[in-house]
Amino acid sequence: MGIFDDMLKDSESLFMDPVVLDYDYLPKLIPYREKEQKHVAFCIKPLFASRNGKNILLHGPPGIGKTAAIRHILRELEENTDDIIPIYINTWQKNTTYKVVIEICEQLDYKFTHNKKTEELFSIVMKDLNKKSVVFCFDEIDKAEDLDFLYMILEKIYRKTIILITNYKEWAINLDERIKSRLTLEMLEFRRYNDFEVKGILFERLKYAFVPNVWTNEALGLAVKKTATIGDVRTGLYLLREAGNSAEDRASKRIETEDVEKAIEKISDIKIKEPSSLKEDEQLILDVIKDNSGKKIGELFDIYKEKGGEGVYKTFQRKIDYLSKNKFISTEKQMGGPDGTTTIVKYERETRLDEF
Ligand SMILES: Nc1ncnc2c1ncn2[C@@H]1O[C@H](COP(=O)(O)OP(=O)(O)OP(=O)(O)O)[C@@H](O)[C@H]1O
Ligand SMILES: [Mg+2]
Repeated sequence: MGIFDDMLKDSESLFMDPVVLDYDYLPKLIPYREKEQKHVAFCIKPLFASRNGKNILLHGPPGIGKTAAIRHILRELEENTDDIIPIYINTWQKNTTYKVVIEICEQLDYKFTHNKKTEELFSIVMKDLNKKSVVFCFDEIDKAEDLDFLYMILEKIYRKTIILITNYKEWAINLDERIKSRLTLEMLEFRRYNDFEVKGILFERLKYAFVPNVWTNEALGLAVKKTATIGDVRTGLYLLREAGNSAEDRASKRIETEDVEKAIEKISDIKIKEPSSLKEDEQLILDVIKDNSGKKIGELFDIYKEKGGEGVYKTFQRKIDYLSKNKFISTEKQMGGPDGTTTIVKYERETRLDEF
């Protein structure tokens, strides 16, 4: 008997279409966000009459449909009109003006970017963009390292709506005056879902993801309850998938409470954000911290170097700061030991496990 024999009986899988549980899968409808989507649509509306639109800062905690709601609107725009160009960019991944401009070129299918400077590229795409109207969405805007691209867009693109998304409402307060006064942001808060809404969302995803009737009521109830407590739908999707895997592993035809319990134990390992939104070196640092939680920052730097990490100690410190601000890790200053003042770094999810 081959080692994979047990795993390959596809017809017996509890999953019908597991892709539906992917974090970046975009469902056809985004229930419970109709009001927020209408507000955004209202800001875009002037563009349909070739007038300038309104700009908006969308804020709220992780995993509550901010990205999903906006991507949904942009998709509808794309399907309904050729006169408005939707541009969506995650400024965690494209975190400099140069990278943002290159990404705009890519989305507009402009290929001759090689050896051209930021300004030159921007003036090329600007001509195209100004033939129509544009909706820009910059997601995770607080992670952008510079905001010159915003200034350039505000100055040079005539008809646009700029949608900025962040977890931190306060981000807007510290904006450069030059940008702030030109943006005149409307604020739109996304609040957490209540228990009823969490249940509705998970049920809807589950219908397409799993074979009918494989979930016991108790197991599903537990997954919903946990998700509602944490308040993050991304965690809920993770629980559904992991519980499904666990039931399959024990060759059960039903997903039961014990499977959800196992999945809950694993929550400590999932990242607050999608791993893809961390850059490679940040991910390496995070992995090093996860395996060496509680060590001093200097020791962690040595391990990071051994594993092929690049850059000087100062850069490493800055990245630690960044991971800490985003709650992937926690840091604690320790005064007056044999090495003087040092920083102890802990893997955050480990320290927060008892919150669940
Ligand atoms: N109303 C909803 N209907 C269906 N799926 C939803 C809904 N709200 C959130 N989701 C799903 O939950 C997951 C997380 O949502 P999303 O990525 O939009 O979170 P977010 O608010 O942008 O979080 P973050 O601030 O961490 O980026 C996604 O897979 C999304 O499809
Ligand atoms: Mg998001």
